[in-house]
Formats: sequence, structure tokens, C-alpha cells
Amino acid sequence: MTRVFSGIQPSGELHIGNLLGALVNWNKMQDDYDAVFCVVDLHALTLRQDPEVLRKNTIALAQLLMAVGIDPERSVLFVQSQVPQHPQLAWLMECTVSYGELSRMTAFKDKSTRDSTDFVSAGLFTYPALQAADILLYDTDVVPVGDDQRQHIEITRDIAERFNSRYGETFVIPEHRIPPAGARVMDLQHPDRKMSKSEGESPGTVFVLEDLKKVEKKFKRAVTDSDMEVRYDIEAKPGVSNLLSILSACTGTAPEELAAEYEQYGPLKGDTAEAVIEVLKPIQARFEELAADPAETERLLKVGADKAEAIAADVLARAKRNVGLLG
Ligand code: TYM
Repeated sequence: MTRVFSGIQPSGELHIGNLLGALVNWNKMQDDYDAVFCVVDLHALTLRQDPEVLRKNTIALAQLLMAVGIDPERSVLFVQSQVPQHPQLAWLMECTVSYGELSRMTAFKDKSTRDSTDFVSAGLFTYPALQAADILLYDTDVVPVGDDQRQHIEITRDIAERFNSRYGETFVIPEHRIPPAGARVMDLQHPDRKMSKSEGESPGTVFVLEDLKKVEKKFKRAVTDSDMEVRYDIEAKPGVSNLLSILSACTGTAPEELAAEYEQYGPLKGDTAEAVIEVLKPIQARFEELAADPAETERLLKVGADKAEAIAADVLARAKRNVGLLG
């Protein structure tokens, strides 16, 4: 069966970009694929974390994934640091990727030059090597992600191909799977930047666990433009196109088709808010139930880590043998 792997960081709160760009797709893929999903806590350490907050966020994110529909019975759901093969394979990956390749990663350039960043960890630079290890450890065929991860999947393919050509067939070469709608949800206030887990007040970011009245307000205040024509045109009309993309990701109707149904921005904003709220409501309700029993979540995650390790141990052993390390 085709194997799917994806990961998400437990830093900050989950927003509708994560949900529509990645998680909705993960959820759907569980039926037809052999699915492995991971809360990548080691990746979160590339930026400084408060230990208590990290622990809490890790559990809460696992609960949110389950609330969205990830079923630990049908899929392998686990936390990265509980499977020791990840950092072990990451070292082999670091030795198979060049300094130049890592320097070209836009995510590194963005994060290392942010005004608020006064300490740039070496981990932030080598991060794509750990991500490659995450993916390659499971003989992954398909990686469902949002558009911002495209470059990280491409470098994973390059690393795998280089390793295979140097040391013989070792890794499956994975492909990314980016959804037709929702792959790039933009900030509602700054539709030229992607929605992200920004700090403090974030009028442009809609969180999955946010109060639904606030969600409505954020959409009503979304930035559009002044020419009053509903048309899907990302370059010329980023704000309106973002609303159409979000509505499309929630309803399954193409954004161009949706555009034809509206003459004014007000109703488009209202309907988009309503569609998002309909998606969020059951997730929030299910999350509350799961959050009441963190011990059960931890138990499920341990079971998931054991299942993940059973796969990862074989692949790591193969890689070690091929590269010339003693078993
Ligand atoms: P992370 O935690 O930043 O994001 C998780 C997923 O959400 C998607 N996403 C978005 N999609 C649409 N619009 C947005 N505004 C938006 N923001 C985020 C991301 O594309 C991603 O799919 N490096 C990864 C985590 C990772 C990983 C992996 C992913 C580590 N190892 C192996 C896949 C496979 C990251 O930081 O995602």
C-alpha cells in the first residue's frame, strides 16, 4: 500500500492555514493510504522554547489532530522525539546535503532574518536534514503538505537520490502532494504574506480553537481592495482571492466558480466566515472532550511511537549498513 507521511510543529497555535493546507488532506488520505503522522517536537527546538509550554503544546497538538479526524487506530500518530531513529538518521542526512543547498532554503532565510530573532541556532540551518530523515525513515511515497513546504520536499528528494547513487538503493524517493485549494492561505490583514503563527494580537490569523464570534469578526475585517469586483486573480486581487480560496477549500467548489456567485465583498466575507465556522465547530467540540484526558492521549502516542519505531528501525539499519557503519 502507498505510504503517506507528514509532520507538524507543536509551536504556537494551529491556524486555518495548517488545517486547510495540510490536515484536511491528511484526514482524507487515511482511508486509501498507509498513513504515518508526526508531531515534530524536535523541529520546534530550532527556536527557543519554554519547556512546560512545549510539553503542553505537544499534547494539545496531538489532541487537535485527533479532533480533526486523525484516528490512531487507522494511522500511526506519534511524537518525533519518542522515536530515536529520527535524529540518528538526520546525521547521515546532514553528511549528504551541502552547506550551499541548506543556504538556499527560503524558510531558513526568512526565519533567521526576522527582526525578533537575536539567536540563530545551527539547528535552524540543518533543519531540512532532520525533515528528510523524518520522511525517508518510513519509505514514504507521498508527503501531503502546504505550498510552503515544497522546497523542503525537493531537497529531501535530492538527498535521497544522492545517498542512493553513492551507497546503493536505500531510500524510496518521495513526492509532495499539495492540495488544489487551501495550499497557501494568506494573512487576512496582509494578503501578500502567508498566514502564520504570529505572536501577540493577530487580526490576520484565524486559529482553529478561536472563539467563533472572533472568527466571524476577523473575516468581516479582512483586507480586500477598492475596485469592488469579485474575481479570482491572486496577483491583482490577493485579498479577495484569498477569501475565495478559503471558501473553496471548505466547500470543494473551484474559486473561479465561486467568484461568479458574488457581486459584492460583504456577502463573500460573510459566507466564507460561515463556511470556516462550520468546519471549526465539530473540531472544537471534539477537542474539548479529548483535552479532558491527557493521560489517554499520552498512552495513545506511546503506542504510536512503538509502531513508528518498528518501521523506522529497519530503514535506519539499512541506511547504516549501506553507508558502512557497523550494525
Ligand atoms: P508547519 O508546522 O509549519 O506546518 C504544518 C503544515 O501546515 C502547512 N501550512 C500551510 N498551508 C497553507 N497555508 C498556510 N498559510 C500554511 N501554513 C502552514 C505546511 O505546509 C505544513 O504542511 N517543516 C514542517 C514540519 C515537518 C514536516 C516533516 C512536514 C517536519 N518534518 C516531514 C512534512 C514531512 C513545518 O514546519 O510545518
